[in-house]
Amino acid sequence: MEVIILPSPAAASQEAARIFEKQIQQKPTSVLGLATGSTPLGTYRELVERHRSGAIDFSRVTTFNLDEYVGLPGTHPQSYRAFMDLNLFSQINAHPGRTHVPNGMAVDIPTHCAEYEDAIRRAGGIDVQLLGIGSDGHIGFNEPSSSLSSRTRLKTLTPQTIADNARFFGSADDVPRHVITMGVGTIMEATHVVVLAIGQGKASAVAAMVEGPITADVPASILQMHRKCTLILDEPAAQSLKRQTYYRWVYDHKPQWQRI
Ligand code: F6R
Repeated sequence: MEVIILPSPAAASQEAARIFEKQIQQKPTSVLGLATGSTPLGTYRELVERHRSGAIDFSRVTTFNLDEYVGLPGTHPQSYRAFMDLNLFSQINAHPGRTHVPNGMAVDIPTHCAEYEDAIRRAGGIDVQLLGIGSDGHIGFNEPSSSLSSRTRLKTLTPQTIADNARFFGSADDVPRHVITMGVGTIMEATHVVVLAIGQGKASAVAAMVEGPITADVPASILQMHRKCTLILDEPAAQSLKRQTYYRWVYDHKPQWQRI
C-alpha cells in the first residue's frame, strides 16, 4: 500500500483528483468507482474544475457508486443519488445512463444487488475506486464483521455510523438503518483503489487499516492485500501511524517515472 501524507485537505483532494484525471486521460472509457460523504467533496470540486478547464472529458466514462440508503428514492436530498447529481454529475459531461448508484427503493433487493454486480462486470470492471473510511474502519458500508469476500448486498448500519451520519439528516432517528453496499470482495476487484482520509477523527481507523492485523473487525484492513492501493491522508488523519517517517521518506524518494 502506498501511503501519501500531504499538508492539507486541499492537497489531499488534489492528489486524488490527479489520479482520476490521469486515468481518464489514459483511458477515456474508464470505469470509475465513486464514494459519497464529506471526504470526496474536495476531490469532486477539483474534478469539476478540471473538466471546466478542458483537462477531463467524462463523456465516455462509466461510474458505479459504492452504496445507497434503503428506503430513500433518488429524489430524496439525503440519498446518495441526489448527492452525486448535486456534487458531480450535474457539473460534468458524464452520460446520465452510465452513472450507476444502487437503487434504495428496489423491491427485490437481492436481485437488484446481483444485477449491480453484473453491470460492473459487463462494463469491464472498475479501473479506479475512490473510497473514504468510516471511523469504525468500514469501507463502502461494509461495517465491522462484514465478510472480507462479500458482494453487493443489504447491510445494517452500526449505531456509530448512524451517529456519524446524523449530521446530514438532522437527527440520528432519521438516518435509515439499512443500506445497499458493494461488498468488500467487489471493492477488492477494482484495478486501483484510492482511499482518502481527512481529519483527526479518522486517525485510529487509518492506523488500524494500515498497520493493524487484517481482520473483518476493520474491513478496510483487507486493503493491505490489494495489489494497487493508494492511501492519501492529511496530517491529522496520519497522526496515529507508527511508520509515518518511512511513508514520507518513500514518497519523497519516489522515482519520477512512478509519479502520477
Ligand atoms: C460513502 C461510503 C462511506 C464513507 C465513510 C466516510 O459512499 O461508502 O464508506 O466513505 O462513511 O464518510 P465521510 O467521508 O462522510 O467521513
